[in-house]
Amino acid sequence: MKLFYTRFLLVVMSLFVLSACSKSEHTYSVKSPDNNIEVEFALSDTGQPMYLLNYKNKAVIDTSYISFDLNSAPSLKENFKVINTTSGSADSTWEMPWGEELEVRDHYNELIVYLEEQFDEQRKMNIHFKVYDDGLGFRYEFPEQPNMKEVLITDENTQFKLSGDHQVWWQPGDWDIYEHLYNNTKFSEIDAIAYRDNPNLKSTYIPENAVNTPVTMKTAEGLYLSFHEADLTNYAGMTLKVDVENLSMVSELVGSKRLGGKAKVTIPFNTPWRTIQIEEKPGDLIESKLSLNLNEPNELGDVSYFTPMKYVGIWWEMHIGKSTWDLEGSQDMNTFTTGKAGTSRHGANTENTMKYIDFAAANNIKGILVEGWNTGWDKWINDDREGVFDFITPYPDFDFDKVMAYAKEKGVQFIMHHETSAAPMTYEKQMDKAYAFMADNDIHAVKTGYVGKIIPEGEYHHGQWMVNHYHKVLIETAKMKIAVNAHEPIKATGKRRTYPNAIAREGLRGQEFNAWGKLGGNPPNHLPNIVFTRMLSGPIDFTPGVFNIKFNEYKTENQVNTTLAQQLALYVVIYSPIQMACDLPEHYMVDGKIHPAFQFISDVGVDWQKSNVLDGEVGDYVVIARQERETGNWFVGGITDENARDQSIRFDFLEPGKTYQATIYKDGPNAHWDNNPQSYTIEKMEVTNESTIDIHMAPGGGFAISIMQ
Ligand code: NOJ
Ligand code: CA
Repeated sequence: MKLFYTRFLLVVMSLFVLSACSKSEHTYSVKSPDNNIEVEFALSDTGQPMYLLNYKNKAVIDTSYISFDLNSAPSLKENFKVINTTSGSADSTWEMPWGEELEVRDHYNELIVYLEEQFDEQRKMNIHFKVYDDGLGFRYEFPEQPNMKEVLITDENTQFKLSGDHQVWWQPGDWDIYEHLYNNTKFSEIDAIAYRDNPNLKSTYIPENAVNTPVTMKTAEGLYLSFHEADLTNYAGMTLKVDVENLSMVSELVGSKRLGGKAKVTIPFNTPWRTIQIEEKPGDLIESKLSLNLNEPNELGDVSYFTPMKYVGIWWEMHIGKSTWDLEGSQDMNTFTTGKAGTSRHGANTENTMKYIDFAAANNIKGILVEGWNTGWDKWINDDREGVFDFITPYPDFDFDKVMAYAKEKGVQFIMHHETSAAPMTYEKQMDKAYAFMADNDIHAVKTGYVGKIIPEGEYHHGQWMVNHYHKVLIETAKMKIAVNAHEPIKATGKRRTYPNAIAREGLRGQEFNAWGKLGGNPPNHLPNIVFTRMLSGPIDFTPGVFNIKFNEYKTENQVNTTLAQQLALYVVIYSPIQMACDLPEHYMVDGKIHPAFQFISDVGVDWQKSNVLDGEVGDYVVIARQERETGNWFVGGITDENARDQSIRFDFLEPGKTYQATIYKDGPNAHWDNNPQSYTIEKMEVTNESTIDIHMAPGGGFAISIMQ
């Protein structure tokens, strides 16, 4: 049996002091199946739960403490005793109905520690650890018990004491929005407060020096860590409060002013899993299925009513200011102000929609989204925005039945749009009708939106009340065979395994930021940051595919800060079962013909048998290869930050003995995200699993390869 004491005696003096006072009689431990990761659990001499984590016998998380503060009840903190422990292991495989790969292996060892207070109320709490080769999850399980029935948690204090001043890719622990850029600093330099009061965000609240999850780190030894949570159900989202002096983080749940606390739960209750991914290669963070494995299996059964697809939409044209969501042109999303009244440029009209449908049908795009089809947009960003939408009444210039019939005739599916204007109480009352209307029209996917501060005041997008709202949307839509793409969502925590109608979400600074005046766009390192942070949580509706990179006809101050070739690469690099080709149909045409590079968007898959990260470094670049289900074709995407890069690619992932036709779409010789973003070349060649090629990526550039059998 290993004691915390002996382990730390070997380290530095300060740890010696800590370990000396936390010396305990019993230590319980569990290792990953490959023995590399080890969790040790013990009680301190005051009976407080604590744990630590080793990777290859070196501490990754030093002794860290656990407690809960409750409203009107003593904290669950000290005087615990271990009344029992159980351990076990499992190794199984499950199939994803759609996803980055078909088969997922779920292989772990587990330890459950059963705790009970020694005096007074004798309250019980179990701590359940599941340790995988790529990381671990642990959660708190409150079994049914006589002296704890319903509790209002005012703080969960799960500590993560780091083993060094790691390099961290973080964004502020905002209770309302994840649409911040990622910062890359030493842990000791994290300053989330500096991002408070961002005038460009419609709703933002950063109460503490905390970060949101997933938060990714690199240790001095080159180990990659990412902290997140899995199965966030009926609980508040977790941010991590940072203690820059002691190199420690502690869970800081998103609160609710109405509740006067963080989460109200009825016991028996299990919290979400607190997860730590641990990898030697950054790409393995992306390949990991840890958070999915920590969720319950599919509860919906067959979800084939949703088919992964690419889609076009009346969307980008509003963001760049060509048209408006509302009829009068009186509401401007770019500035969140009223303006331009009387200049009717309503995008969602019948004729325009039919134009997009024609474009989709001609170019192997299966879906269309039309924003601004329904009444209410003339009021949606006012303070008085409760109940402005009803989700069944089209604007008079949008002939709903005609458009539906035309889409059907052309084989293009509609993706419904429900912007709730952050008024979820009204939305919950309207759901029945809104979803029935969709079912009547054979529409099986909806994009939802929650722009603005949540009504009622005192609730936040990431608090328990909204977590329950987003959950309710999944349940109610599932009953009507509808899949959900949520914008301004709660972060993904792997629930798509249980509810595979949760197809994609936003929850990041999306493409739209590149169109907005005051906001300055996403810098070229944004997506190399995103793939190793936000993307670890799940599918992203980023909406790639801008070809008219500078769109000077509409805005001279803004542009997309990547090359055209990188826009193609994003269809492979960013995972989502729905991928938008977001630019305007006319921007995809050259001299009356489809742009040669659009061929890649027509060809690229959206549902994968396998996904391999071939190379990458957090925040710098990434190269991913994915094999399409059904066809067996492969697609490779590579992106770089503001630095040019020469990338060599080995095709050893292809089947031996086979010859494939590869088409390579890459940056032109002098391409540059800023001064020459649309320069590209297309090359065709035969490749086998022994081929190797070298590709130059321009600053802010990338490449995309289709490899067909
Ligand atoms: C914000 C969403 O992210 C964006 O995609 C949408 O166009 C607007 N809200 C309007 O709903
Ligand atoms: Ca958004």
